[in-house]
Amino acid sequence: MAQARLRRLQHALQERAAKQLSRQAVTIDSYNGRLITVGNKQYLNFSGNDYLGLAQAPEVLHAVADGAKAYGAGSSGSPLVTGQHKVHQQLTDTLCDWLGFERALLFSSGFAANQAMLLTLADKQDLLLLDKLSHASLIDAALHSKADVKRFAHNDLNALSGLLLQQTPSAQQPMVVTEGVFSMDGDSPDLPALLSLCRQYDAPLLLDDAHGLGVLGPEGRGSAASQGIASGELFCLMANFGKALGASGAFIAASNTVIDYLEQFGRHYIYSTALSPALCAGVLKSIELCRNDNWRRDKLQHNIELFRQLATDLPLLVSETAIQGVVLGSNERALTASTKLKQAGIWLSAIRPPTVPVGSARLRITLSSQHTDDDIRLLVQHLRQAV
Ligand SMILES: Cc1ncc(COP(=O)(O)O)c(C=O)c1O
Repeated sequence: MAQARLRRLQHALQERAAKQLSRQAVTIDSYNGRLITVGNKQYLNFSGNDYLGLAQAPEVLHAVADGAKAYGAGSSGSPLVTGQHKVHQQLTDTLCDWLGFERALLFSSGFAANQAMLLTLADKQDLLLLDKLSHASLIDAALHSKADVKRFAHNDLNALSGLLLQQTPSAQQPMVVTEGVFSMDGDSPDLPALLSLCRQYDAPLLLDDAHGLGVLGPEGRGSAASQGIASGELFCLMANFGKALGASGAFIAASNTVIDYLEQFGRHYIYSTALSPALCAGVLKSIELCRNDNWRRDKLQHNIELFRQLATDLPLLVSETAIQGVVLGSNERALTASTKLKQAGIWLSAIRPPTVPVGSARLRITLSSQHTDDDIRLLVQHLRQAV
């Protein structure tokens, strides 16, 4: 019995390998923002999400160490039992002050937060409308929820409008889910137009801003702020601490009612150990630096513009953010290009299905405020040779 099961697993692994879709985690010896060392070799890193260089900022590292001394390394419990420390409260208060929401709730990861958001807030009578390129955590959450699910063509408001229109006389209540910056393409929806469509159908808008928080808008308040949207217009916002804020964990921010409801019914919140208090102390410092250090965002913006100016002859996706995609099509092409770049000292992982649609394997370049002009010139020169 067990043998047959193991054979089934082996077969699936072999099939995945034959399609050049196997992936392995690489163990990094050291990381300092722009550089990573793997197996004693140093590479320029263009695959991370540390957009503002906060993962290694000395102030953040000190805050984590001081936080561990003051509150402990672990929270020692789930939040509703004994896991909620003062520093958790301070972090949610700071998030509300920064982003203009009434309440926020912390989660161990963005994946867990998205599960909680859709599984808890969408019910039998609802219809979840998701962008086609939504992150796996949103797709899985929607499919596991009690609601019906439909997906609209990427950033296509006409397609969304068609789905909303089909829906109107029915008893189902639509909820629209999108991202501030799409994780694999780096583009963004027109949020004011999307909101006005949502308003027409009384559909709440749920926004995942994992890649916009910290990077976009005044004080890094994210995609909604950068497009002139007041936070109160969103039904809720999910964002994580693992990208621009350089740590890990996540939060959902919304009105008192939405967060009160998630606190009572959100199983990923209730039945999970609260975030490490030491880490929360680090995130508090990251947020402080993020709000005050405009130079980090200015430098990142400079790097994005320089990259796009230099790479006009490359098949780049349209994106004005730190995520820049070069779509190569086949898995083999993407892997070969990534290997060539590694040989040249540039770490740029090939992104393949199921992370991106079949036939759109790519190099996904992520830029950081840590990169220098020379790093970007070198990247473009080697990209040209590799693709
Ligand atoms: C758009 C988006 N949402 C959610 C997540 C999940 O966040 P986390 O890595 O904190 O689980 C990610 C990260 O991969 C993401 O890119």
